[in-house]
Amino acid sequence: MNPRVVASRRFPPGFLWGAATAAHQVEGGNRWNDWWQYEQAGRLPFRSGDACDQLARYADDFDMARDIGHNCHRFSIEWSRIEPAEGEFSEDALELYARMVTALRERGLEPVVTLQHFTLPAWFVAGGGWERKDAAAHFSRYVRRVVGRLGQSVTYWLTINEPTVYVSQGYINGTWPPMYCGAWLRAARVLRRLAQAHVAAFDAIKELQPRAMVSFAHNALWMEPCNPDRRLDRLAARVRDYVYNRLFFRLIGASGVPAGNLDYVGLNYYTRCSVRFAGWGPTGLLGRACRLAHHADTGPRSDVDWEVYPQGLAGVLQQFRRLNLPLFVTENGIATEDDALRCEFIEKHVEVLANAIDNGAEVLGYIHWSLLDNYEWDRGTAPRFGLAAVDFESQARALRRSALIFAQICRTNRI
Ligand code: FCB
Repeated sequence: MNPRVVASRRFPPGFLWGAATAAHQVEGGNRWNDWWQYEQAGRLPFRSGDACDQLARYADDFDMARDIGHNCHRFSIEWSRIEPAEGEFSEDALELYARMVTALRERGLEPVVTLQHFTLPAWFVAGGGWERKDAAAHFSRYVRRVVGRLGQSVTYWLTINEPTVYVSQGYINGTWPPMYCGAWLRAARVLRRLAQAHVAAFDAIKELQPRAMVSFAHNALWMEPCNPDRRLDRLAARVRDYVYNRLFFRLIGASGVPAGNLDYVGLNYYTRCSVRFAGWGPTGLLGRACRLAHHADTGPRSDVDWEVYPQGLAGVLQQFRRLNLPLFVTENGIATEDDALRCEFIEKHVEVLANAIDNGAEVLGYIHWSLLDNYEWDRGTAPRFGLAAVDFESQARALRRSALIFAQICRTNRI
């Protein structure tokens, strides 16, 4: 038998391959949102400014995505452009995003549309942000506008990007707006409101477009005890796994089988989290991350210090299969200046995906983060996540070798 034939693995027909971006990270000039305001006030270390100037360049960027074999593309709609003031909807902004969707379709790219990716309209935040009682009502009103306008051309929707990341950065660690530290009660309230907002958006989308496929994007961290022989580390890892990976599903009514209020499970996977017990009480029980320096299988680390751990993807795919819904890897990628490491990262993670599919997981697609280097939140433009490098002075894009390695996988639908 020819070993090359044995090694080559096919993905299911129609498998979606693509890359992702998010509005605030690429568009530039998002002056109606909370991030922009914090940036201008000097409360964040970097300003997004023109970012990748994508609103002027999306046609070229989408050409590039098509040319490197992608057949889908994930991007997000900026709520604060659609509704810059409470109750005032911008027809121009709706038209702009409708043109982007058309541009994707013209290039054979299936749009995967995120409705809220971390940033919020400044007016919404001024009234309490996700803590406001009417948060879900406001969100679903915006969602109705968007779906009413784009609905017929979009099948795949993601309501909210990474609720648990938003809550932990904004209400526990205090590194992102609204910059609360250790505000556990607020965090719990916000998580509940986000869940209500997801359900309201899910209902709105399905009412307008019954055949839509709707999820939120979950940041799936693979949790492991720092020291598996230590009972309290195992306990802390289980608690953290529950709070981080399961609670939101429960809050939206998606913990049963089959899961309610979801048509598929959007999973963003980057790394594992090794948990060390740090005392009793919420902070302690949720544990502290450790670096697992003593473990033989510790992988290389990215430029933002995330461990490369492809086996964690196997773990989370297995974990979320229990919901009995199709899975969709809606983000996976690495910040690195070392493109050889990115090539290896892609090959290893795609291989893990192929194994999971061989073992019976239903997976709709794989979306790499990101198409472009971009504004990586409070870390500015230093972390390089792009399949294409961006020169932020000239806005020139240059494909990296990893883009070509990935293109080969996308075009042939096999590894
Ligand atoms: C994810 C975010 C995305 C980007 C990547 C690196 O958590 O969804 O916006 O910042 O991490």
